[in-house]
Amino acid sequence: MTKTLEEVIAEIKNRLDIVDVVSQQVILKKNGGRYWGLCPFHKEKTPSFSVNPQLGIYKCFGCGAGGDALSFIMKTKNIEFMDLIKDLAKEFGIELPANLHKDKYSSDLKTQMASACEKAAIFYHDLLINHSSEEIKAATDYLTERSISRDIIDRFTLGIAPKSYTTLYDILKKDFSDEVLEKAGLVLRSREGHGYIDRFRGRVIIPIQNESGEYVAFGARALQKDQSPKYLNSADSLIYNKSKLLYGLYTAKDAIKQEDGVILMEGYFDVISAQAHGVENVVGVCGTSLTSEHIKLLSRYTKSRRIYLSFDTDSAGQKATNRGATIIKEAFEGLGNIKQFDESYISTSDDKYSCEIRVISPPEGKDPDEFIRTVGAESFKKIVENAPLLIDFQVNNFLKHKKEYKTPQEKTKYLKEFIPVFLEINNEIIRSEYVKMVADALNIDEKALKNEIQKYAYVNSLQPVSQSEIKRIVTKNVSISEKAQKNLLSVFLVTDSHFTFTQISEMIDNSYFSNETLINVKHTIDKLICTVNNVRELIEQLYTAYIENPEKQQLLTDLIGIAETFTNLSPDDFKCVIEENIRRIQRCRWEEEKEKMRNLYKNADEDDTEALKIQMQLRDKINNLVKTGEN
Ligand code: UTP
Ligand code: MN
Repeated sequence: MTKTLEEVIAEIKNRLDIVDVVSQQVILKKNGGRYWGLCPFHKEKTPSFSVNPQLGIYKCFGCGAGGDALSFIMKTKNIEFMDLIKDLAKEFGIELPANLHKDKYSSDLKTQMASACEKAAIFYHDLLINHSSEEIKAATDYLTERSISRDIIDRFTLGIAPKSYTTLYDILKKDFSDEVLEKAGLVLRSREGHGYIDRFRGRVIIPIQNESGEYVAFGARALQKDQSPKYLNSADSLIYNKSKLLYGLYTAKDAIKQEDGVILMEGYFDVISAQAHGVENVVGVCGTSLTSEHIKLLSRYTKSRRIYLSFDTDSAGQKATNRGATIIKEAFEGLGNIKQFDESYISTSDDKYSCEIRVISPPEGKDPDEFIRTVGAESFKKIVENAPLLIDFQVNNFLKHKKEYKTPQEKTKYLKEFIPVFLEINNEIIRSEYVKMVADALNIDEKALKNEIQKYAYVNSLQPVSQSEIKRIVTKNVSISEKAQKNLLSVFLVTDSHFTFTQISEMIDNSYFSNETLINVKHTIDKLICTVNNVRELIEQLYTAYIENPEKQQLLTDLIGIAETFTNLSPDDFKCVIEENIRRIQRCRWEEEKEKMRNLYKNADEDDTEALKIQMQLRDKINNLVKTGEN
């Protein structure tokens, strides 16, 4: 009998040795019961990355990264959980469950939706290439005019949706329920309320594949000039999230890895043209704006995180470039700097960067599709090779308009918007070079510009401090309570607690938890402790349960860290830890209630009986607090 997916995962985990796995990427040295090395997830010179073979986990004390063997491989090799499981099962010769799609990782509905999308894509495509009618001829002519060859049509499964109302529905309803077709965004309920009609009509169909090549959505280009909107796109669905999906990624993956860089474009046909003409490492957003999720997705494929923005060269495209750059910077915030200097500099500079943004902006005022078709892919590749860094692009753009600003006031006003750009350059030498360049170009005093930049930096550095101070006061109680809740949850993960899971569970009531995520983890722990035999297994199961949830994995790593501080305790001391944290949580709760009552009291009328009642309740709360304080 073949195993279930859970059994396969358990067996794979059993076979993996965390020290072996990590050793393939990190040089480890044993010290005490642990192994230490330089963290692969952030730059460091002294080891703060540790591997705990007893628990089968790793943790970096520098950047906080942590997890088990599977999540280590996923992170360092940039692969998805199910892909990794499939790879490892093959490597270890473990047979996978016959129908992987029927497992809990992908529900039946989703599978059917994807299958309906695939059938639709094939149907539209077949109609375009194997049938003839006036409409189909119009579509073929349109594509020919856009230099889309038969080859390209096949490669991107392009198709046609005819004008009539139920062409697709009549075909697909034989195999799929109305619910599946509607949820997949292929049909709409007709306005009269009975029956369904096709969503895409009278359009060229561009099927959209997800990262693993499944068809999940469609873009549909109008065939007529007066047809609106120009592109009709699938809405988000259970299987399609446009903020997380990039058009063309499935076919561009390998090229992105190979070139160690990715070109981001705006339009479906930009991507199609580029990939079809041999510029393979290209992806596009699907009728939505770029998000930091898109960027994170891309950074999994390019090690040096080199991202080229190749948007339209009109002013809307330029705005999109700046917006895109901002999104990319946000996505990488806290992970390092944006690279603001050229390769030749790397060897002499100690600056670490986390991402390199370059801008492709062909002079002719064409979008990439038009450029590649009229000027050629080779010229486009040259432009990619010589694409300026974002900073140079911005400085050039900025200086293009310099002649319009003549008076000192005009120049100052104009510069004000640009000062934050200077501040993004961390390296002083590089920054001063740009300052010099801009000062010369505008014919202003270099020192004065430098001083203004410094002033701006100073004023801006003050703001976050005072804001965070306010926040600190406001959230003080919440964070004390949350910390205590974390401590309480972590006692389940103490390796030598002298108590059974059931005994611990009896001491810790669910009502002590108020933080949503913690409640959630507590429920999962409650469920798991019925089946696991020891802490190691519990941790393993928790990491598996949260494999697709980095936030919870991080929390788990934190909890394991806290649990370590509670080892080597006597049974009495262990109980004390639990009781003390429960007390802290209750104190915080009473404090909060007390504050609420104070507010109520302040707002109530003085001789009102309501006020009196509140006053008495308030006194009770304060008494409670005094009592617990004495303990
Ligand atoms: P463009 O208007 O630049 O389209 O919009 P394009 O790709 O150059 O189109 P062609 O060459 O005239 O066919 C860029 C992208 O914005 C989205 C589409 O993803 C499009 O490819 N868009 C545009 C929509 O989603 N809906 C629209 O109505 C227009
Ligand atoms: Mn365009």
